[in-house]
Amino acid sequence: MQTDLSVLRQAGKRLALDAEQFLASQAITPDALERLRKSTSFVLTLDEVKSSLAESGKLPDADPIHKDHAAEQHAEGLLSKGEAHAEEKKREEGKEKEISPPVSSAEPERKSIEVSVARPASFRPLAKEYAPNIKIQNHTDVSGQSRCVGSVDDFVAYFRDRFEREGQILRTHQTNLSIVRTDQLSQHPGEEIRLIAMVTDKRMTHNGNLYIELEDERGATKAIFSSRERQFPKAAKLIKDDVVAIDARMGPNFLSVKDITWPDLPLLRQQKSTDADLAVAYLSDTHVGSKLFLEKSFRRFIRWLWGEEGREDLAGKVKYVVIAGDVCDGIGVYPSQEKELSIKDIYEQYEAFDKLVEAMPDWVEVIVSPGNHDGVRRGEPQPILPMELVKSDVKKIGSPAMVDIEGFRHLVYHGTSLDSVIANVPGLSYQKPEGAMMEVLRRRHLSPVYGENPIVPERRDYMLIEEEPDIVHMGHLHKNAAMKYRGTLLINSGTFQDRTDFQVRMGHVPTPGIVPILELKDQRLSQLKFTEENL
Ligand SMILES: [Fe+2]
Ligand SMILES: [Fe+2]
Repeated sequence: MQTDLSVLRQAGKRLALDAEQFLASQAITPDALERLRKSTSFVLTLDEVKSSLAESGKLPDADPIHKDHAAEQHAEGLLSKGEAHAEEKKREEGKEKEISPPVSSAEPERKSIEVSVARPASFRPLAKEYAPNIKIQNHTDVSGQSRCVGSVDDFVAYFRDRFEREGQILRTHQTNLSIVRTDQLSQHPGEEIRLIAMVTDKRMTHNGNLYIELEDERGATKAIFSSRERQFPKAAKLIKDDVVAIDARMGPNFLSVKDITWPDLPLLRQQKSTDADLAVAYLSDTHVGSKLFLEKSFRRFIRWLWGEEGREDLAGKVKYVVIAGDVCDGIGVYPSQEKELSIKDIYEQYEAFDKLVEAMPDWVEVIVSPGNHDGVRRGEPQPILPMELVKSDVKKIGSPAMVDIEGFRHLVYHGTSLDSVIANVPGLSYQKPEGAMMEVLRRRHLSPVYGENPIVPERRDYMLIEEEPDIVHMGHLHKNAAMKYRGTLLINSGTFQDRTDFQVRMGHVPTPGIVPILELKDQRLSQLKFTEENL
């Protein structure tokens, strides 16, 4: 007989899948159900359900409390979460074998009733069948590797590293021209050459021409663009600290520029695929602790992961949830912020976040990186969120960080620099985050203008995009966007914070409650709206 579990759902309880399967096959008394309803746990595990029933005298002796050895070993650090899942799967397969009756053609009518203990629940998540496949590229993540003390040497080393590594990318671009340095320009009079240099100044002259200063490790030079020139629109897109290849002839005073090339992504790249039909859900800017955090919609997203809100086909594939920063609203991030907080204690904000993570299914791997509202240093690159704040079982990464998920190279970055990119590159707007994301990829640098958002000058420039990502995941702008750029999928994962007064004043229109979900096998991207009745 099936137990009516709606009383647990109404009490806000979630059941682990095996616990739900177990209860579905049991007839339990109202007092046992009441005991479960009053449990302090948000997610009821199989062990807890069995313990609770045993305490109420409901569980017969013949069905002793099952010991989940894989879970125990995982808790003791003997098994990773993935290994624990594999162990659990093996155990479940074995259990099914034990309890399935032999199929007999002489007794066909017995099959349907006797195997009820192992009958499939309506929701059987495919993601539960797989161990997680994640690899963090440590050389792309500053966590534990910050050496900066803010000395002049640190600044010099930072800019040298950036110039050399962006220059190397530019040297892979094919050209018939000689690549020269600024101190060699006088040796090539009248000849078209290629110069690799950093933009150190950009100004409009009083008669509407564009004046650009360029520098490399040997010296400096300058170029001027008349508004009538063919290269003018391209030159207008140059921003300070850009490292570019300039094809030009040296004139008496200025370079006569024929073309400008940014490091950019290659035009052609092999597209990846995977056999596992799994999916990734991309989140950011949950702003837990803010009065405007849309907790109801976020809890609906969690229920969806459990297969309770429709689109179970897709929900069951979600193996990974990646959160790209601003997980909590923080304290003192801007003046008078306390008036807009529902949780005014930073530790309590992260406790609330931990509770939400713990309410997600145990087969989902949660990957978290910080943002400008979070409790780590404000300067980028940002290291992982500390243990004192985030205590739940998540994989922490810095911002930025490159992480391989099922073989797909994900570049995860909060996106704090996008404000300065939008302010400096003509034609960009807050309404189209994908435009600003494309411009940082074109520059192979996540924070191209130095200093407009705080940058810690590490000796290695972690903001540089050295390896080509398959997927770039950012947030910060609170507006969903997705586009493919030169074979790389750009995703801005929006927010779970409602529109703030600041956004109203600035005319920004966020898109709260929309979660992009990517099915890795066929690269299908869905955007589910958890604020609306129909997903
Ligand atoms: Fe945010
Ligand atoms: Fe942000």
